[in-house]
Amino acid sequence: MSAPQASSRPEPAAVNLRPVERAPEALAEVVSEVLELIEQCRRADRRCVLGLATGSTMLGFYAELVRRVRSEKLDLSGLRSFNLDEFVGLAPDHPQSFAAYMRAHLIEPAGLDPACVRIPDGELARQDPRAVAAAYEQEIDAAGGLELQLLGLGRNGHIGFNEPGSPRDSRTRQVDLADSTREDAAGAFGGLDAVPRHAITMGVATILDARRVRVLAFGERKADAVAATLRGDGDAAWPCSYLGSHPDVRLYVDGPAGQGR
Ligand code: GLP
Repeated sequence: MSAPQASSRPEPAAVNLRPVERAPEALAEVVSEVLELIEQCRRADRRCVLGLATGSTMLGFYAELVRRVRSEKLDLSGLRSFNLDEFVGLAPDHPQSFAAYMRAHLIEPAGLDPACVRIPDGELARQDPRAVAAAYEQEIDAAGGLELQLLGLGRNGHIGFNEPGSPRDSRTRQVDLADSTREDAAGAFGGLDAVPRHAITMGVATILDARRVRVLAFGERKADAVAATLRGDGDAAWPCSYLGSHPDVRLYVDGPAGQGR
């Protein structure tokens, strides 16, 4: 007699690991995929809706994207994007806001319409985080959902600003930042005291609803988060491990980031 089935849930597809020698190789591949997606959408006469990320890892991604757009004179007018997160209390013109980052690294150099690159407003979120979060979710839905979400990993395994303990079914909301996240940001803010204590972030479920997820993790400090992503066991202590339940995730790592796998 065969053993009873423990669960009728389908096995999650394993995270597709893409080891590279060096980060630029991965960045070029993901930029090419994004540009192909934008072109496919253009041919189908629909907008291409992307989820975008910030952080130092993504600087190389935007530099390569802008380089290709300029050298190949590409048309990104069909692009619509939603950023993962923003610090609560920072107005879009604050130099450390993710809004300022997106202007400096994508909107201005690629000549995009700022209205097409959506970022939660950190100042409005300070006044009414629930309203900002609900409106953001509705806007993503109304745009038809995210075709592809670009992700970095926090060294504590956060995705967006979904810190350890974030539930699998979380949606866009205000969160408390973890101490290690605030410490990592202290340099840019000129000291820990200046780092905001809260952020507004897409939720884990919002991220997992994207049709494709592409994760970039480089350097030794990401090794634990990479190992947790590959375990993929949905452990709330390592939010990146929720990615194991997504059917189309690629995780790009360089040698030092992949050492713990
Ligand atoms: C911030 C962002 C995350 C990003 C992480 C990694 O915390 N909210 O979305 O993945 O930083 O940043 P870095 O690429 O600088 O290591």
